Amino acid sequence: MEHLIEQLRHEQDLPDESLIQLIERDGDDTVLFQHADQVRREHYGTDVFLRGLIEFTNVCQNDCYYCGIRKSNHHTDRYRLTPEQILTCCENGYEMGFRTFVLQGGEDPRNTDEAICSIVDQIKNRFPDCAVTLSIGEKPRSSYQAYYDAGADRYLLRHETATDAHYRKLHPAELSLANRKRCLFDLKEIGYQVGAGFMVGSPGQTAKELVTDLRFLQQLQPDMIGIGPFIPHHETPFAQEKQGTLELTLRMLSILRLMFPYVLLPATTALGTISPIGRELGLKAGANVMMPNLTPNDARKNYDLYDNKICMDENAAKCRLCQEGRVRSVGCQIVSDRGDVRR
Ligand code: 5AD
Ligand code: FES
Repeated sequence: MEHLIEQLRHEQDLPDESLIQLIERDGDDTVLFQHADQVRREHYGTDVFLRGLIEFTNVCQNDCYYCGIRKSNHHTDRYRLTPEQILTCCENGYEMGFRTFVLQGGEDPRNTDEAICSIVDQIKNRFPDCAVTLSIGEKPRSSYQAYYDAGADRYLLRHETATDAHYRKLHPAELSLANRKRCLFDLKEIGYQVGAGFMVGSPGQTAKELVTDLRFLQQLQPDMIGIGPFIPHHETPFAQEKQGTLELTLRMLSILRLMFPYVLLPATTALGTISPIGRELGLKAGANVMMPNLTPNDARKNYDLYDNKICMDENAAKCRLCQEGRVRSVGCQIVSDRGDVRR
């Protein structure tokens, strides 16, 4: 197995069968993690970048089978933050050293192009040294262009799975992998720094699907790749499905670091949810980004994508401090910087 890891590190690629072997193997991943850690150090040293996450609306017109804020979940209180509330989150975040704000939300019909452009414009005016990332789903190219022209720098849109049949198992008929891919390529062409990604251990996923995800990412060449374990939510069709494992998520993080040495790779909240030291292990396996939550408390409780999500009762300052400690505990340090990709 070690020769496969060496080969992956030096060539940033392997044949499908070898990737499957690496993904399916059942054993100690220490050597894999060490290689990933070294590659991260070559590109980013021990720097870890922060993204202040602002979950500004949990209203969503989509009905993805895995997601707790899907429109058919009538047990969630829906909320929208006002532009003033969003700016207050940024204000607090700026004081705490954040230089990137991520506006994430469901596909809320009230997110008109005008509304999004206006909030992006206000944030960029007030905090010219900060990057603004949007994560608000599938839109026409003209909308993406408008947000970009208003000053948005980055866009996160996980592809979720790059296999058509698997995409169909995770989403209702109105959503298609083809459109998701169209969005990602449009975003790249417009000039955004783009983030794609997938859940690990989603229902119906095997090593074969994961290899297809890696192949799609090679085609897209994203700047960021967000992955985390699938975690069931009790009010969704996947309530009874098994959650993704810590082991496989960490292994995929390392494989991603070896295949995409430059990429920005977050140790996600979902990883921190399935293990109390999940994010620390993620950093050791090659991750270099943390995304503390800046959403006000009464709102964040209702952004329940999956069960037992951490930090639901914490506030922004507490999460910031908590993450500082976690990053230090693995020999890294948080840098107060936009944290652009270093290609
Ligand atoms: N478990 C893990 N991740 C989830 N997401 C949505 N629902 C779940 C879940 N049940 C992820 C999706 C989405 C991101 C915002 O959250 O990958 O793109
Ligand atoms: Fe929120 Fe640890 S990151 S409490």
